[in-house]
Amino acid sequence: MTPAEAKKRIAELRAEVSRHAELYYRQAKPEIPDRDYDKLERELADLEKQFPQFAAKVSPTAQVGDDRLEGFSTYRHRQPMQSLDNTYSEDEYRAFHQRLVKLFGRDELAYVVEPKVDGLAVSVTYEKGKLVRAVTRGNGEEGDDITVNARTIYSLPAELKTSKKHPVPDVIEIRGEIYLTTAEFQRINEEREEAGEPVYANPRNLAAGTIKQLDPKEVARRKLEIVLYGIGYCEPQVADSQSEFVASVKAWGLPTVEKFWPVQGIDAAWQAVGELDKLRHAFAYGTDGAVTKVDSFGLRREAGSTAKSPRWAIAYKFEPERAETKINAITIQVGRTGVLTPVAELEPVILAGTTVARATLHNKDEIARKDIRVGDTVLVEKAGEVIPAVIEVNLKRRTKECRPYEFPDKCPVCGTKVVQLEEEVAMRCPNLGCPAQVRRRLTHFVSKACLDIDGLGTAMIDELVEKGWVKELPDLFRLKRDDLLTLGKKVEKSTDNLLAALEAAKRCELWRLIHGLGIPHVGVSAAKDLATHFRDLEKLASAKVEDFIANKESVISGIGETMAVAITGFFADKRNRALVEGLLEVGLKPVAPEKPVGGSTIFAGKTFVLTGTLPTMSRDEAAAKIEAAAGKVSGSVSKKTSYVLAGEEAGSKLDKAKELGVPVIDEAEFLKMLKG
Ligand code: IVH
Repeated sequence: MTPAEAKKRIAELRAEVSRHAELYYRQAKPEIPDRDYDKLERELADLEKQFPQFAAKVSPTAQVGDDRLEGFSTYRHRQPMQSLDNTYSEDEYRAFHQRLVKLFGRDELAYVVEPKVDGLAVSVTYEKGKLVRAVTRGNGEEGDDITVNARTIYSLPAELKTSKKHPVPDVIEIRGEIYLTTAEFQRINEEREEAGEPVYANPRNLAAGTIKQLDPKEVARRKLEIVLYGIGYCEPQVADSQSEFVASVKAWGLPTVEKFWPVQGIDAAWQAVGELDKLRHAFAYGTDGAVTKVDSFGLRREAGSTAKSPRWAIAYKFEPERAETKINAITIQVGRTGVLTPVAELEPVILAGTTVARATLHNKDEIARKDIRVGDTVLVEKAGEVIPAVIEVNLKRRTKECRPYEFPDKCPVCGTKVVQLEEEVAMRCPNLGCPAQVRRRLTHFVSKACLDIDGLGTAMIDELVEKGWVKELPDLFRLKRDDLLTLGKKVEKSTDNLLAALEAAKRCELWRLIHGLGIPHVGVSAAKDLATHFRDLEKLASAKVEDFIANKESVISGIGETMAVAITGFFADKRNRALVEGLLEVGLKPVAPEKPVGGSTIFAGKTFVLTGTLPTMSRDEAAAKIEAAAGKVSGSVSKKTSYVLAGEEAGSKLDKAKELGVPVIDEAEFLKMLKG
């Protein structure tokens, strides 16, 4: 390559890598797989090395990917947060060790090998054992202050446990990763798909998108998790090595990596990397590699770092599991809310140990963007080790027969013309009577998390819809015994059982019915909050946005703006209002919560003061429970205080409570009260 060519390519790569870094770090919407991003970045780094005359300070190879967004205040890390060098090659991995051997003048080095957690980097600061701040990596020097959102993470204690062996320092920055479990990822994506919103490609993107939400209530609904593995600023010093540090992190009650391998030398380290690769699929978080770190903090200081990453650590990244296969057909699935989801029917291949025969293509735009055609040979990957995704088309293997896919303009099930709602990527079948939608709605309605009606499996539902007996939810309650008996397979006893179950379901708890309606965004916990607040289906149906949001604040704890709009929008549709009327007409009399459920109001009008260390909960957790039950938490004891919830080593607040005669309760009593 001539210098002129190199100059041009370097400029191109800088623009391209920066663009993808922006998509990944800031928007959590990468367009290319991580592996391809790493390749581009590597090509750029190699060229800059080969042609040092074109090296520049402002290059993505010298800066960490910036995640800062509008709407957050920034905070400067006491010690900068760096990136990690990565490699996909064993030779380069071993070369990392050789550099250190040369530097330290000795052969045997103690390392630790840890999972590389695929989440988003965060730094949490504890002062005198109390959580005071959580900040994203940002540009490495300063990041977005996400403290409020991070406090919704259940596994992140507000206070560190103290122990003699592992004293808590005055100030410590602890580095880690925020992530989502696979189960939570799937739950949220299903909800989004039904709501016609774009789904997230993997848990990492969803976690990143979530923590940068401006409404902490929405954040709390998506159960984020955290794992901590690194030390930043720390005063006074509490550990001399990673192994010691991890032991302290555990003792302080913080979640740490599922497994780590303290090893001597690079051969043992390489073996640990292999072991990790075998075990990692069972971990709670996604892993995309193994991080190998020099154990001793003294040696780390000696090794120092480059502009972007420390010389004492390296990430060996695992190749994503990919395979080539053919798209035999593209089919359309019609969801409960009429969303049309295109699905690639694949020639079955084995991927990460399971046979993959279908992959979602998400929506019309996605097919167009990747120019996916029936008959194409495509690369499929288990993205974030979860759902198989079609990465790209192998154009070399495209034949003339592969015609561009024409997204249907009619619903493949009922033939109604499909529509695209404003600001939605999804195409929808607007016919609420579409058999596909009815089937899905029925399945949801009778499921365990809704009316919980036994004896109505998919086959039975299909039959009821096919016969035309059930066109809408209320029709379920109009089924006739004689009709059901003609279904043949149904013997008398099971028919009677089903009819009894339907009769009993008429007196279901209100939240079950609310959830069963299938309002976009409204899951079980929101349905419970709504039931507690409105206590009546018709009141909920006629509520206005102002009843949910006043002065930009949620009126009902846990119901944010997105949901308020979804709920009012749902009931603004006269077909949905007719549905509610129909259900009441056939005799549904849902039971409003006696004793408040879920987000209860048991502590309404009560003020709590928390003091000392509780045996099983952090104070923040206790506060969250009080607020969820409509109580208030205050920082100081006064005559107006209803209860002081005291744990071990409670201080002056306890004395004050005794002085004023305020009742003092412990955790056990508190939990009893919560149960009602
Ligand atoms: S240690 C000075 N350990 O990977 C940087 N990082 O791609 C030392 N990461 O920015 C980082 N798992 O956010 C370390 N076990 C682990 C990790 C880990 C994931 C992240 C971290 C880092 C990124 C680089």
